[in-house]
Amino acid sequence: MQEFIISNTWKKVFVVIFVSGCILLTISYYDYAALLNYQTFVTRTYTKPTTTEEPTEVDVHNEDKRSYLVSSTKCKILDLDPFSEDAKKYFKPLKYKTCTKNDLLTYVTKEDNIATIHIDLEVIRQYTKGSLSCCYSNITRSTSPKNPDDSIKISNCKEFHNNVTIMQEAVLVKCSSKNTKVYENVHTSVRITKDVQKKISSFDNTTNQPISVLFVGVDSISRLNFRRALPNTFKFVEDHKWVSLNGYNKIDDNTFPNLMAILTGFDQLTAYKVCNPKVGGSLDKCPMLWYSYRDLGYVTGYAEDAASISTFNYLKKGFIKPPTDYYFRPYVMATEKLNKMTVSSMAYCTGPETSGERIMNLVKDFGATFKQNPHFGFFWMNTFSHNDISTPTMMDNKLKNFLTNLDNSGITNNSLIIFLSDHGIRFGDIRLTETGWLEERLPYIYFSFPPWFKQRFPNQYNNFLDNANKLTTPYDLHMTLQDILTMSQLNYTIKPSDACPKCMSLFEKIPQERSCEDANITHHWCTCSGYNPTKLDSESESRLKQVITDKLNNILLNKADVGGDKCSIYTVDEISTRISQKFSYKKIRYVLVTVKTNPKAVFETTISYTGDIVNSTLEIGPLSRLDYYAPHTYCVADAYLKKYCYCK
Ligand SMILES: *[C@@H]1O[C@H](CO)[C@@H](O)[C@H](O)[C@H]1NC(C)=O
Ligand SMILES: *[C@@H]1O[C@H](CO)[C@@H](O)[C@H](O)[C@H]1NC(C)=O
Ligand SMILES: *[C@@H]1O[C@H](CO)[C@@H](O)[C@H](O)[C@H]1NC(C)=O
Ligand SMILES: *[C@@H]1O[C@H](CO)[C@@H](O)[C@H](O)[C@H]1NC(C)=O
Ligand SMILES: *[C@@H]1O[C@H](CO)[C@@H](O)[C@H](O)[C@H]1NC(C)=O
Ligand SMILES: *[C@@H]1O[C@H](CO)[C@@H](O)[C@H](O)[C@H]1NC(C)=O
Ligand SMILES: *[C@@H]1O[C@H](CO)[C@@H](O)[C@H](O)[C@H]1NC(C)=O
Repeated sequence: MQEFIISNTWKKVFVVIFVSGCILLTISYYDYAALLNYQTFVTRTYTKPTTTEEPTEVDVHNEDKRSYLVSSTKCKILDLDPFSEDAKKYFKPLKYKTCTKNDLLTYVTKEDNIATIHIDLEVIRQYTKGSLSCCYSNITRSTSPKNPDDSIKISNCKEFHNNVTIMQEAVLVKCSSKNTKVYENVHTSVRITKDVQKKISSFDNTTNQPISVLFVGVDSISRLNFRRALPNTFKFVEDHKWVSLNGYNKIDDNTFPNLMAILTGFDQLTAYKVCNPKVGGSLDKCPMLWYSYRDLGYVTGYAEDAASISTFNYLKKGFIKPPTDYYFRPYVMATEKLNKMTVSSMAYCTGPETSGERIMNLVKDFGATFKQNPHFGFFWMNTFSHNDISTPTMMDNKLKNFLTNLDNSGITNNSLIIFLSDHGIRFGDIRLTETGWLEERLPYIYFSFPPWFKQRFPNQYNNFLDNANKLTTPYDLHMTLQDILTMSQLNYTIKPSDACPKCMSLFEKIPQERSCEDANITHHWCTCSGYNPTKLDSESESRLKQVITDKLNNILLNKADVGGDKCSIYTVDEISTRISQKFSYKKIRYVLVTVKTNPKAVFETTISYTGDIVNSTLEIGPLSRLDYYAPHTYCVADAYLKKYCYCK
């Protein structure tokens, strides 16, 4: 899911008022996260990293007491403790919440490719003592030629008794007793369409031996928060020998570029150039790998919860044609018209079910339906993880049970499961800590291989295991997805990743000595540098302050046309710095700088230098904003400017 930026619709819908002490703040909505944690931001104090008198210069060849996930002469990724004091301060496990106190009144069965919704006669009494009447509406994707992703069609509600067959994409069921609505839900089911049947039948699985792929993603969960917040799920994947890539480093800030890197091999700039998501129809023409899979005979599917802010739709145009054979957006949109219960400002419940479990059920249905056929599924969950490091705990057992079910139903016997996130939490108090910096950049990622995989591809499998503690990227995953097509003996030619020509399939041996330059990871996102907290001399500090202030204020100046003049000019109040280790392969070093400004905001950047900071040419990287800035940027609408603005 994308960074939240203001849109007019949201602005209208969400105007939230916070009362904090005697101050009344009216906040225009654009950042769920900001709303959620605004109060904690203002009450918690900023802890400066520990400082030492002299710059610590640790040569990578020298003995070094810290332990590393990746350790080479070009890359040192710290192995931090998920339960460090730093992190524990901001982590509070929560219990699963049910969306309704009753059992579900309706359920779906599928037999011979016919999906039927039944009224559960045994639970009617939980809903009414009197008579019950139910009706259903067909849900279909909008046929609007320009924006079919933006809306759905809901037919008239037609009364039914006992059961009704799902004929369209989804069905909305409403039940009432004495003219009072007592129940409402939306159901769907994966049915084999004529086109898909044709495709399955014509797939020659005697000469091709397809490897199926299922992506199961949970947004904004770092490798460390995976252990912290999903202990039972973690235990499951470890017990079942799922393979983790411990040095999997994100390549850009938020979801869109990191998922596009996987699906297209492009970086953000090229993705916007070639597949401009703000222009209708561009994503349809974009060379995303799910199209290659589909064209080569795989059955494809894609679902994501939080439809209005999902990866390809938030302030983007989405798709004109469904991008995959099974496209669950109309279903998800229909569920979001039901009563919602929010947790951390996300729609945790849509009607009587959690949004997360709805996606898990789709994975199970899709995976089971096409167990014997080549399939490629891309499933993404946002609603219980996006805004807070603690909320995923609510779903830990559900996720564990879901993975157990994939095993019991034989889906893990047939598919390669890629269980991953895109990045860690990007805003808020934990981001002011060392672990927060690392976690933002290192999402969790696990692979589950079908048992026959090692036998059929022993070398590839061993290479993969060997890559677990090397620096890897979404671009490598892009190469891997292409490799899977050739390993499946399909007519496919592998193309290098545009953004990272040297990236390679994870089934090859990735060089042990790989740098962020080799992997085309911009230094600001790179976790290889082995930073150490360092107190600099005042001359260096003032130069850094100057460089950052200039950069910030220039952004405001250059954006005057879209309201930059409504934002306050910044001065830097406090600065804290960390210096990268010395690497023998290059002269350049980096200083990671966090500044607290006046007016109150927190920015982080990575600045490169050679020699000393005072005299060197400094190159400043992208600027991250670490505080929840929603309450302070209502005066501007420009997405880019918002990140840097503090309204006068
Ligand atoms: C739903 O669609 C099916 C098949 O297209 C149709 O037979 C049925 O009448 C529709 N139901 C409603 C309530 O529109
Ligand atoms: C639907 O209900 C009818 C009775 O109203 C029953 O005859 C039929 O078998 C049911 N269909 C399924 C699939 O259970
Ligand atoms: C080939 O596909 C059919 C279904 O279309 C399936 O029943 C069969 O098991 C498959 N064979 C192999 C070797 O996967
Ligand atoms: C998965 O495959 C193994 C053998 O490879 C088999 O013993 C097991 O029964 C299968 N599980 C399911 C649920 O199909
Ligand atoms: C492979 O695909 C190319 C174009 O995509 C086509 O020209 C070629 O004939 C195909 N080869 C086989 C063996 O099908
Ligand atoms: C990727 O990195 C290499 C050097 O390692 C560089 O030559 C190339 O320009 C980079 N590509 C992109 C698209 O940034
Ligand atoms: C910076 O350069 C000046 C003049 O070249 C020199 O006097 C000074 O010592 C240098 N500063 C540092 C910190 O090396």
